[in-house]
Amino acid sequence: MRPAALILLAPLAACINANDGGTGPEPTGPTYHHDVQPLIAQHCQGCHTAGGIAPFALDTFAQAETQAFAMRAAVTSRQMPPWMPEEEGCVPLRESRRLTDAQVKVFSDWAEGGAVEGAPAPPMPAKQERGLERVDASLKLPTPYTPQAGLTDDYRCFVLPHGQTVDRDVIGMNVRPDQRQMVHHVLVYAVDAALAKSQDDAEAGEGWTCFSGPGQDAVMLGGWVPGTSATQYPTGTGITLDAKKSVVVQIHYNLLTTGAQPDQTSLELQFSEARVPNPAAFSAMANFWFDIPPMAMGYSVNAQVKAPSSGTVWGVFPHMHTKGRKISVKKSGQCLIDVQKWDFHWQQSFFFASESGLKFNAGEQIDLSCTWDNATSNDVKWGEKTSDEMCLAYFYVTK
Ligand code: HEC
Repeated sequence: MRPAALILLAPLAACINANDGGTGPEPTGPTYHHDVQPLIAQHCQGCHTAGGIAPFALDTFAQAETQAFAMRAAVTSRQMPPWMPEEEGCVPLRESRRLTDAQVKVFSDWAEGGAVEGAPAPPMPAKQERGLERVDASLKLPTPYTPQAGLTDDYRCFVLPHGQTVDRDVIGMNVRPDQRQMVHHVLVYAVDAALAKSQDDAEAGEGWTCFSGPGQDAVMLGGWVPGTSATQYPTGTGITLDAKKSVVVQIHYNLLTTGAQPDQTSLELQFSEARVPNPAAFSAMANFWFDIPPMAMGYSVNAQVKAPSSGTVWGVFPHMHTKGRKISVKKSGQCLIDVQKWDFHWQQSFFFASESGLKFNAGEQIDLSCTWDNATSNDVKWGEKTSDEMCLAYFYVTK
């Protein structure tokens, strides 16, 4: 609500309209400078800016005006900002990107009201990406990598030398994509050094092709998608980086907007000074045994586990491949995450808003449910390739 501001601005706006020719009505609905620009700065410009990952910028009135109806459609359908989890009835998530209904209405009313510019006001600065509290190690692709021309998507794993000689607990992680328009997600793992090296050596050029990650026994350290800030793990928790292991990143390059450019993405880590009181791990549950029939739309499977011991769960990282449509996880019937429109390109870890995580007891039931659309004439099973599928959830847990 902004009645006071509206009253103050109204005469000014009328005045401007008068200068424009005198016939324009006083704007009564939302205006660009007063209502829309602050929302764009806060919720869209992380990606929709010159050089950002989105296909067009929303840095000026003219750019926003051209996109007014497209923005209305994208926010009404909840396609934008990209944020997969449903919120209703589920545990609240940290750093949610979902717009409120009132914010959606501003975009909608603004488009329908004729995308009025309104009285000029100093633009709200784009939301700044938050960095780490402290950077203890900076890791980088050893040499720039240029994705294979002709591909639209290139999934590539790289070893990033970390230089640590003793085991450290990672408590924060910040991915710094080099080619922002190309880097669509980055998953970070600790991998057996010999295994990482053999995969790297087997393929020419920097890194190796890897759609599904760097191997079964890889320890997940975190994940990143565009528009998210540095990840700070919940206070008192962290993931141990075994000094003997290699840090491997899987980078998804999407080449639709830019074509292949040399990229040298880097990664910052923050370590705990003393060992953390609550060492964490991403532990997984999955259904490996499905067989999705040819041309099966909306095909679902479930998996159930009983928690082997009590502990605290702080976040979830659901994972399927490109045929996934829905994925959800429940703990004793309580919704931890519910994705109704899975998009492989926006996968990330989701942490709960609660500062103390969610306790679970030994024997408590965890349910995972996955649904796919298989529009091919082959049946589809668990596997590492793009054309295979997965039904998997990682949990960030402590004892
Ligand atoms: C995290 C990055 C990100 C954020 C934040 C974001 N967008 Fe987007 N947007 C994209 C990308 C990338 C595309 C291209 C399509 C895709 O990959 O989904 C896109 C596409 C669009 C489109 C075109 C949709 C279509 O059907 O082609 C519109 C309109 C749009 N965004 C509006 C917005 C608005 C309005 C906001 C803020 C309320 C916003 N976006 C926030 C990344 C983002």
